Amino acid sequence: MRHLLTLKDLSTSEIEEILAIGKTLKEDMKRGIREPLYPNCVMGMIFQKQSLRTRVSFETLMTHLGGHAIYLAGDVDFGKREPIRDFARVMSEMVDLVMIRAKHHEDVVEFARYASVPVINGLTDYCHPCQALADIMTLRELIGDTTGKKFAWVGDANNVALSLAFICGKLGMKFSMATPKAYQFNDSIMQQIRENAPDADFEVTEDPVKAVEDAVAVYTDVWVSMGQEDEKVQRERDFAAYQVNSELMRHCPQAYFMHCLPARRGFEVTPEVIDGPQSAIIQEAGNRLHAQKGAVIWLLRQLGK
Ligand code: CP
Ligand code: NVA
Repeated sequence: MRHLLTLKDLSTSEIEEILAIGKTLKEDMKRGIREPLYPNCVMGMIFQKQSLRTRVSFETLMTHLGGHAIYLAGDVDFGKREPIRDFARVMSEMVDLVMIRAKHHEDVVEFARYASVPVINGLTDYCHPCQALADIMTLRELIGDTTGKKFAWVGDANNVALSLAFICGKLGMKFSMATPKAYQFNDSIMQQIRENAPDADFEVTEDPVKAVEDAVAVYTDVWVSMGQEDEKVQRERDFAAYQVNSELMRHCPQAYFMHCLPARRGFEVTPEVIDGPQSAIIQEAGNRLHAQKGAVIWLLRQLGK
């Protein structure tokens, strides 16, 4: 059973297949075609954390495909009310796919171990694969071929950064990340990147200017991710020099600004950048719908559906 838990589990050609399906159906949609390819197909969606884009994109795409999505939030008390193995096996009796946004990545891995339907990671503390698929789809719409191009990350080495590192490594892009020393990926994560994308051109620096020079995209995310609220004061202090502002963007006038959203204007990015001419954030958010449609169809096709 194939799942989408992290991008390290997908080969380069599988990532390309997902993006190609998403691209074709996006073009269809622009021409007014929303073919119900999977009538009555049902996705269960478990949310342990808040969401706008992930929920709306999955719910919408399931409707486009002729199916339905069920939103399960706090009331199911994921991981607490009943063992994850029971939860996974019960849901597998009823729905065709499950999407989970969870606090702990291990819980999603455990769910997938017991599920007999495909499981999609809709963000965990470890990674956010659906976001990275939409981001690369967006960048290709903006600049065409991304091979050999430099992708810059400025800020926390978090879940979104890891998925982007994997996808850039697998798609032959350079990935340069500027992160304060104490927040950089640890040895175990670096090892995973090397193992899963052995040809990755990966640079880690503490200097945001070095990271963004010659980049086609400058990406940042919140300094305080969901679940890190207790570290807010310390993090805002430690990341203050990593703000993406017009002074930093002066070093890469050709680059697009990207952010997974939600953003905190005045912290990781200034309003003149996120709302300025280099910003691609709305197109990027919109592509969550199309890239994930590609992922859902790809997973169903693996089952011969
Ligand atoms: N980028 C993203 O995953 O947004 P949500 O948290 O709103 O789903
Ligand atoms: N890094 C952020 C991403 C939100 C989409 C978080 O985990 O809260």
